Amino acid sequence: MVEIKEVKEPIKQRASIHSHIKGLGLDNQGKAKVVADGLVGQTEAREASGVVVQLIKQGRMAGKGILFVGPPGTGKTALAVAIAKELGEDTPFTAINASEIYSLEIKKTELLTQLIRKSIGIRLREKRLVYEGVVKERKVKVAKSRMNPYSQVPVEAQITLATKEDNITVTVGQEIAQQLISLNVKKGDVIMIDAQTGKIIIEGKVKDFEGTKSYDIDSSKYIEIPGGQVKKEKEITTTFTLNDLDVNLAARNLTVSAIFSLFSERQIDEDIRKEADKIVKDWISQGIGEIIAGVLFIDDVHMLDLEAFSFLTRAMETDLAPILILATNRGITKIRGTDNESPHGIPLDLLDRLLIIPTRPYNAEEIKEIIEIRAEELEIELEPQAIEELTKLGSENSLRYAVQLLDPSLVIAQRRGRNVIRSEDVALASQLFSDVKRSVKYVKEYENLWMK
Ligand SMILES: Nc1ncnc2c1ncn2[C@@H]1O[C@H](COP(=O)(O)OP(=O)(O)OP(=O)(O)O)[C@@H](O)[C@H]1O
Ligand SMILES: [Mg+2]
Repeated sequence: MVEIKEVKEPIKQRASIHSHIKGLGLDNQGKAKVVADGLVGQTEAREASGVVVQLIKQGRMAGKGILFVGPPGTGKTALAVAIAKELGEDTPFTAINASEIYSLEIKKTELLTQLIRKSIGIRLREKRLVYEGVVKERKVKVAKSRMNPYSQVPVEAQITLATKEDNITVTVGQEIAQQLISLNVKKGDVIMIDAQTGKIIIEGKVKDFEGTKSYDIDSSKYIEIPGGQVKKEKEITTTFTLNDLDVNLAARNLTVSAIFSLFSERQIDEDIRKEADKIVKDWISQGIGEIIAGVLFIDDVHMLDLEAFSFLTRAMETDLAPILILATNRGITKIRGTDNESPHGIPLDLLDRLLIIPTRPYNAEEIKEIIEIRAEELEIELEPQAIEELTKLGSENSLRYAVQLLDPSLVIAQRRGRNVIRSEDVALASQLFSDVKRSVKYVKEYENLWMK
């Protein structure tokens, strides 16, 4: 008998609205290529962003800020995402939407302080005592767990580490034994154990070490057997954020009840922050620490209120200040929490410190290109007519509207038994889902019929 099995298609990962953006798409001279890294057009703003990336990397933007200004759907958030991609992982990048600061659980200024401290990195170079070598042998002793008698936990381990010249067998306690298991350390792996903290780092793998097999699918990095002694002083560079340090210091002197209050209020004591700052300053004066000014990106910044703005302005004046990247689509508008109007709803003293990068609306050709890139990212197929239709909607209404119609159009096409979107699917989608202009008009028309 023939067996028939249904194959379920895996659920597609939802691609976030900016997932097609991989970078700023600039050449070596900092000139924007017309279409690159998922970005289309907007060349001047992209080139300006490129300069900003350079300044950040050279450490010449600390305590300064930039502001993206432009109509809705002109790529302000997209450009901030691209900047984060260009900076790479070593530069802290924290992003929020300004409306997120209004929370019942945590004070605005506390949240902003945490965000600021998450956006400042510390690079620490330290000489540390380490054990480093290729794993020759690994024995983990297990015992019944005291918490759960049915499960076994590692209690101790014995590892033999070797270099080209040296060979040491060490017995390690539970914490390191657990790491050996969770990191899946195997014979042939080159590891480093920090003697003080017990932290294990896997540096790579020695190919075909004493009969170990390597497989094609293996993604490990192959390296040579290290030279020198197994036990030695080594300079290690670690990067972390000021907030990491705060949290660590706070956890250090915690009692159980304090853990509860820490996590319910999510508040860090000012004294702890002062202590952290002092530690960092000591590292800097000893020449082993270095500050990395990271980025705090605040989207829709006109949603901040006066209190938040003055807090930020003050924070930018301290010597541990991150780089601010702000974005808004507002012109002259009231500063939230006041009756005063100001350009972009931002107080003048903060505005004074910002470099402004304008973004301009796209032409039809650019809109078409962006829709095509988005469709490809979402793995959605469209007939040329459907792309034309979406481009028209994008030009007449907004790019965001056109981009957002992609998913509903696909659902409509699928209901009609197709996987390729036709223009009639787009037409129905735009009929079912209103754009902002239409919805406002609709409400206006009916306003006088509604109860007042
Ligand atoms: N130049 C571009 N190239 C490729 N995609 C873009 C470009 N500009 C915008 N997009 C995409 O178009 C959509 C809308 O852009 P985005 O959200 O960045 O606009 P915005 O200026 O931040 O708008 P708002 O003022 O409403 O916040 C997003 O999916 C974004 O990734
Ligand atoms: Mg935006």
